[in-house]
Amino acid sequence: MFYHVKNLIHPIVDDRPDPSAANALQEGLGGQFGEMRTMMQFLFQSFNFRGDGIPYLDLIHGVAMEEISHVELVTKTISKLLDGAPGYDGGKFDTPGDSTVLDMAKEQKNPHHFIVGAQAALPVDAAGNPWSGSYVHNHGNLVLDLLDNLVLEATGRLQKSRIYQMSDNKTLRSTISFLIVRDGAHQMAFAKALETLGVDWAKILPVPKFDETQFPEVKKLMDAGVHNEAYTFSLDGSMMDQIFSGSSPANDGSELVTLKEPKESYPCPISPERPEEFAPGLDPELQKLADAFSEFKEKTLKDMEDKAGPNPRNKEI
Ligand SMILES: [Fe+2]
Repeated sequence: MFYHVKNLIHPIVDDRPDPSAANALQEGLGGQFGEMRTMMQFLFQSFNFRGDGIPYLDLIHGVAMEEISHVELVTKTISKLLDGAPGYDGGKFDTPGDSTVLDMAKEQKNPHHFIVGAQAALPVDAAGNPWSGSYVHNHGNLVLDLLDNLVLEATGRLQKSRIYQMSDNKTLRSTISFLIVRDGAHQMAFAKALETLGVDWAKILPVPKFDETQFPEVKKLMDAGVHNEAYTFSLDGSMMDQIFSGSSPANDGSELVTLKEPKESYPCPISPERPEEFAPGLDPELQKLADAFSEFKEKTLKDMEDKAGPNPRNKEI
């Protein structure tokens, strides 16, 4: 059972719209080594887990929980990079037809971002291939699953480091830097699990072997220790810290720490109406009905609380 918090795991940084950068980032979302795969691979491995190696289950499950937040973050980042047809100045309910306000869209790397997605992320890679469930590896053998997960996180970190080099857009670089750091942390999580099963990593890790503090956004996160943290995202306990603690398998002298959740979270932006895409959330008539419903709901809830006290289901857990 899962709950959702209306906050992001990392802030969306403001910069100019950049559809090419958005398309490069699609690889980190719907690519073979992207966030949709890490999310589904770790979820399936934890749902299908066999035996009583609970600390290993809790570790895979905790990382899976975080991957849901990564999918949310990358999706929001791609939408932010796409949003805003240049020069358009319409009102909320305008449906312009006297000019080609989306003229630029047909020249973009992926015109589906505008024709299909109304300036929003799609579950595809940077070449437009749809995400596939066949990317998900759940071998049913713990050692093989952990090895596979380490390769997945290492390849994710490698490809994201390449994407960082493709654009200086601050919106892209902030999100991709966070993912480079967290892919590094998850690489260490699966390496540490394999270490408890007898593996000696010597000087192999991290993959790829380069000084990621050359990227200033990455350095800032590493200075804050984000690369050595893991999160359980569990309300009822976790044995993840039995594995994710002690010295880092990177052999850099740093220590790993398991926390219940990240120390901070950030506002989740709502995309504006885009009349040039015929994408208002509601037209004027439906807006009126929605407003009336919201007023009715608020009044009804207030009347109920006046009579019976606060709704216990709204209590903090
Ligand atoms: Fe991730």
